[in-house]
Amino acid sequence: MDNKEIVLSGIRATGNLHLGNYYGALSKFLRMQDDEKYDNLFFIADLHALTTNPDPDQLHANVKNIVTEYLAAGLDPEKSTIFVQSDVPEVSEMYLLLNMHVGIGELMRTASFKDKARKALGIKSDSEDIEHEIIGNETNKRVNAGLLTYPTLMAVDILIQKAHKVPVGKDQEQHLELTRRFARRFNSFYGVDYFPEPVNFDFGGKPVKVPGLDGSGKMGKSEGNCIYLIDEEKVLRKKVMRAMTDEGPKEMNSPVSLPVQNLFSLMELTSSHEVLQQFKDAYADCSIRYGDLKKQLAEDILKVTLPIRERIIELQNDDAYIARVLRQGAERARERASVTLREVRDIMGIRKFY
Ligand code: TRP
Repeated sequence: MDNKEIVLSGIRATGNLHLGNYYGALSKFLRMQDDEKYDNLFFIADLHALTTNPDPDQLHANVKNIVTEYLAAGLDPEKSTIFVQSDVPEVSEMYLLLNMHVGIGELMRTASFKDKARKALGIKSDSEDIEHEIIGNETNKRVNAGLLTYPTLMAVDILIQKAHKVPVGKDQEQHLELTRRFARRFNSFYGVDYFPEPVNFDFGGKPVKVPGLDGSGKMGKSEGNCIYLIDEEKVLRKKVMRAMTDEGPKEMNSPVSLPVQNLFSLMELTSSHEVLQQFKDAYADCSIRYGDLKKQLAEDILKVTLPIRERIIELQNDDAYIARVLRQGAERARERASVTLREVRDIMGIRKFY
């Protein structure tokens, strides 16, 4: 345990995990878990999910689903600390403390906040003055304070464990930048060398991009775009067969449109090099049939997802096992978190008289 670098990452408990989560996050977690250099913590961010006011029963079910999916994909509670964010109450207290060093201006300038605030207020355009809308809004559409302080909570997740490496996608880079800034600010305000500055982590190579099936750039939770690890064989095949394409190449070596490139990109992740090359050649000489491409792609995706789906189904009914994993995870996560919280309180002058 001693000299290992601390790795921490989490996924918001909003829905089932999809191929984007798998290739973007989980597959990295799996590699780190098998590397002796790292002491790994992976969690389910249920408090962060509250920022978008989910249905309570749905939230609870989502947490269970994601733990089950983590385990089914190969996260191993003997090697990694797997826990639920709200099982570490120290996080909530430190969130209050750290907020005293966070500016509302910097939070309001965060891209993810602006996006989510626009959504909450039903504002479309990029250029609107959302500050004005937020302050002046008198309808019952509101931007909750939890959404604003989302980066504080995420920074606390990381700092309370004194994590060094945080494997996350590009969309989280700004949050990580804020985390480093808060860590530096805390250290310099109190004249301590307390928090390490965490960095993103990648195994090198090209960044993975997992495109959607609807011709869009990214696999996300919107309908028709997404392949879930839990998808049934039939459903998965149908989704892939319905993926957007185009009219097909009319001339030799024509440029590839985005929807078709997306299918090639998915193949790059799941199919063999030869198979991919074969379809790329067929595209170049105009002999390609998208139906064949999709059949092959569905087949190769199923090789990845079906074994995971089978384990999900086995684990789903084993509530006792899930409870054991999460209790042990919470205990381990709290060990370090409680030490950090105690020290942070002391550094800030919140000291007991009795
Ligand atoms: N914000 C991350 C996401 O939406 C989830 C998250 C919360 C997280 N806290 C974290 C990721 C701490 C890494 C470390 O994906």
